[in-house]
Amino acid sequence: MAYQVDGIIIKNQKIHTSYYLLELRCPPIANEAKPGQFVMLKPSYLNYPLLRRPFSISKYYPLHHPHKTKRGHFTILYKKVGLGTEMMSHLHEGQKINLIGPLGNGYTLPPLPSQPKILLIGGGIGVASLLSLYTILKDQKMFVFIGGKTKNDILCEKEFLQGENTELYIATEDGSYGKKGTVVSLFFSKLNQFSSDKDLYIYTCGPSGMLKSMAKKLVQKRWFVQASLESRMGCGLGACWGCVVKTIDPNNPYRRVCKEGPVFNLKEIEWESYDF
Ligand SMILES: Cc1cc2nc3c(=O)[nH]c(=O)nc-3n(C[C@H](O)[C@H](O)[C@H](O)COP(=O)(O)OP(=O)(O)OC[C@H]3O[C@@H](n4cnc5c(N)ncnc54)[C@H](O)[C@@H]3O)c2cc1C
Ligand code: FES
Repeated sequence: MAYQVDGIIIKNQKIHTSYYLLELRCPPIANEAKPGQFVMLKPSYLNYPLLRRPFSISKYYPLHHPHKTKRGHFTILYKKVGLGTEMMSHLHEGQKINLIGPLGNGYTLPPLPSQPKILLIGGGIGVASLLSLYTILKDQKMFVFIGGKTKNDILCEKEFLQGENTELYIATEDGSYGKKGTVVSLFFSKLNQFSSDKDLYIYTCGPSGMLKSMAKKLVQKRWFVQASLESRMGCGLGACWGCVVKTIDPNNPYRRVCKEGPVFNLKEIEWESYDF
């Protein structure tokens, strides 16, 4: 169930360069959220910009959460890229903002009690969505790959090291931190060690170009691969069809990222027609 509610800003903190962490108190959303879901957020109470903006719920604390002071809170990690996120960066503690959420399908969790190997691959701000999944699964064996253009684009390194069974790999395109190259190259360079594994669960989120290059190499593999997609959104509620992606399914070729997604089987997307 999704709610249209006000959230109260607990903090809106610059992490570095153009990245921010927004923590909100909003019990209805924090209590219902699932990994991979998102909210539509109104960046200001003015009429402009008119459209809400979609943001992944990166952490959430339901009302039974052991961390008592955080109960009813959730966080968003965002990158300042345009007008809406610029306005968000000026919001301050105690202010109210209007939200709709939680929205979208979220990730499909690996079946329990089987102990599959889980791999997460995040590019840039794409780690925001994967963090919610990591938090739920962190006691399991996980291999996490995060990457960005430079050291300043590497986010949540500490958060992805909370699980004792996590192996974390980092790549930057300019080589300023971790392995030089893309996170996709780093991921595929390690993938050989899993080639005999049947039970592999791969989850990814990042720029469309990154997802497309992963899809090309994974399409023939039998593994479970889910990707959280981005798309420009109008309503976020399934009404405007402004966010559709094309799939390879001739019976159901168009799917709405806000409603049937944002998480899809990576191999189901018609990447050749995807608009970058
Ligand atoms: C399901 C979903 C979850 C998202 N989660 C996050 C998140 O956790 N953190 C985060 O920082 N961003 C996230 N985004 C992207 C975020 O919604 C956009 O960055 C934001 O809407 C930009 O608003 P703006 O007004 O600042 O930019 P605008 O002024 O609208 O646009 C500025 C520039 O950003 C580009 N842009 C805007 N929106 C998108 C988009 N959705 N995909 C690709 N390019 C875009 C535009 O083409 C333009 O070049 C998510 C998007 C979706 C669909
Ligand atoms: S944004 Fe309107 S249908 Fe998806």
